[in-house]
Amino acid sequence: DEVCREELGSLHGIPLYKSFIEGWPQVEAFQARHDDLLIATYPKSGTTWLSEILDMIYHDGDVEKCRRDAIFNRVPFLEMNAPKIPSGIELLEKTPSPRLVKTHLPVQLLPASFQEKGCKVIYMARNAKDVVISYYYFYQMAKIHPDPGTLAEFLEAFMNGKVAYGSWYEHVRGWWEKRQEKQLLYLFYEDMKKDPQREVQKILQFLGKEVSEETVARILHHTSFQEMKKNPAANYETMPSSLMDHSLSPFMRKGISGDWKNHFTVAQNERFDRHYQQHMAGSDLCFQMEV
Ligand code: PPS
Repeated sequence: DEVCREELGSLHGIPLYKSFIEGWPQVEAFQARHDDLLIATYPKSGTTWLSEILDMIYHDGDVEKCRRDAIFNRVPFLEMNAPKIPSGIELLEKTPSPRLVKTHLPVQLLPASFQEKGCKVIYMARNAKDVVISYYYFYQMAKIHPDPGTLAEFLEAFMNGKVAYGSWYEHVRGWWEKRQEKQLLYLFYEDMKKDPQREVQKILQFLGKEVSEETVARILHHTSFQEMKKNPAANYETMPSSLMDHSLSPFMRKGISGDWKNHFTVAQNERFDRHYQQHMAGSDLCFQMEV
């Protein structure tokens, strides 16, 4: 039951997997609950990390409870739809409140119900250069994607917004510009790497939760890259190998900032920088390219 690599379709102009587009009517009509918490990201920006942190917060730092199931079942992926496995919508219907919900949708495609119910949102962004490298490896291991070609080809596709979920620039800017209208906490992967304790405190404050120092320490330990990499409930190794082949590249690959330096040539970096400046012009959104 090999999954065939297939070209992306287009959802309201955003390149996306054809099976997700088939499931779109159910996603668009999704009924959020007022206490749903939405975790929104562009792909490869720290979604799984943030999800594990939030599940730990929701379970008061109880590691065993957070091993109850794989992360993709504990935090259902809203728009996910693929043959032979339950869709994100089906998983969400079975999930008791308060639910954690994962999405990679650009802000303009978010189902209206999240806004109507006043749901809180945590968005996490990661610098474009590390995202494109992480995405390149992910395209290789997750077979829902078309063949990424060479890194040079993939960089072009990324810059042109011709990868799943479209333009990184529009995604991070779109959510940034909407941050005041929503109950939204906008976080950065690089900040989480540099000072996870401070970022977890921001999350706790945003959620209006208080936990002991000891619990915070347990959360930080359990959600470190090393711990998550060896945790079968967090590292995606329980996904059917027909969907993800960890021998091509593990899902928990490196977990650092600045790995782009090991991949970009000088010429690619200069070209990327020029393109980046054009596409981020006029925005007060700033990224650290390494920490
Ligand atoms: S997905 O498929 O879009 O949901 O992927 P996502 O979880 O957003 O991103 C995967 C990258 O995040 C890294 N990761 C972590 N980094 C630091 N600490 C922790 N705990 C952690 N968990 C996951 C993961 O390794 C991917 O980045 P790369 O650069 O490829 O290593």
